[in-house]
Amino acid sequence: MEENQQEKVLYSAVQPSGNLTIGNYIGAIRNWVNMQREFTCFYAIADMHAITVRQEPALLRRRTLELAALYIACGIDPEQCTLYVQSNVSAHAELAWVLNTVTYVGEMERMTQYKDKAARHAENVNMGLMDYPVLMAADILLYQANLVPVGVDQRQHLEITRDIAIRFNNRYGETFRVPEAYILKEGAKITSLQDPLRKMSKSDENPNASVYLADDRDSIMRKFKRAVTDSDNRIVASDEKPGVTNLLNIYAAFKGCTVAEAEREFEGKGYGDFKLAVGETVADALAPVQAEQKRLLADKGYLAGILKCGAESAAYAARKTLSKVYRKVGFYRGE
Ligand code: TYM
Repeated sequence: MEENQQEKVLYSAVQPSGNLTIGNYIGAIRNWVNMQREFTCFYAIADMHAITVRQEPALLRRRTLELAALYIACGIDPEQCTLYVQSNVSAHAELAWVLNTVTYVGEMERMTQYKDKAARHAENVNMGLMDYPVLMAADILLYQANLVPVGVDQRQHLEITRDIAIRFNNRYGETFRVPEAYILKEGAKITSLQDPLRKMSKSDENPNASVYLADDRDSIMRKFKRAVTDSDNRIVASDEKPGVTNLLNIYAAFKGCTVAEAEREFEGKGYGDFKLAVGETVADALAPVQAEQKRLLADKGYLAGILKCGAESAAYAARKTLSKVYRKVGFYRGE
């Protein structure tokens, strides 16, 4: 029987590992807002994932709070969903340990993101970096999530999560729901403004490559003005025109229209006007989010209350799954 939508669980998270980009917003957070009324949602701040690359402790703490404020400023309603910090719920680390025992080293070594990060942080290829997808599987499986809304770069991690869940269920009996990635076609991969074949990333060293959610209007306008396009002057989305396609995706996401509608709007216009319009649309959309985030950050007590409440309700849900897992694997739990 089809489950009632409201009973379907949705899980997602963002790492507080840098300044968030419009890629994080378009690929993930924006979609979370639309789903919170339809599903039972858990939205986390993945600080345990963040420390797999070196973080400045005081900065990590600050970014965690900034991200909480940003979620709310983007429209996540803490009354409607569970918003919490991953490290505040110990069940994540506990389940990750058990899942480690049904995950193979070879599988982890093959993960694209691990290989990329290991190459970029050759001086710090720690166990956590390799184990990252197992912790992510623990996040998702703890809440018996049906759906995980993410950008396309997380697809492989979702596939391994499914494999781990199926393997555990086969070995120990039905325990986890097998989740599905929820990847929207448009905006699932926003690319760098300087190299439109690469993902726009928080950790890009070139500041002109990414538009950050915290950028002011001037920076936003300047970055779009300098965005790499191509030499012909047609504003259409196609594989041969990755730069223009990316700008169309960004425009459509912030304008709330389809890419086809955006193409029609810019028919016959030049790249200069187009880039200006993209910049203005993004700056106009981000201004109220930034103002609201700032307002929320001024009230640390309010944010702390939300996160405490969120951690308690997440812990309650997580504990149910963890107890089941401990029983299944044969851990002694007293009489
Ligand atoms: P993170 O913090 O790298 O990114 C957060 C979300 O943003 C999406 N994203 C993008 N989408 C479109 N275009 C881009 N350029 C772009 N860059 C990032 C990501 O796909 C992601 O959805 N491992 C996760 C965090 C995590 C998580 C989880 C996610 C931890 N536990 C459980 C889902 C479920 C990560 O590093 O995301």
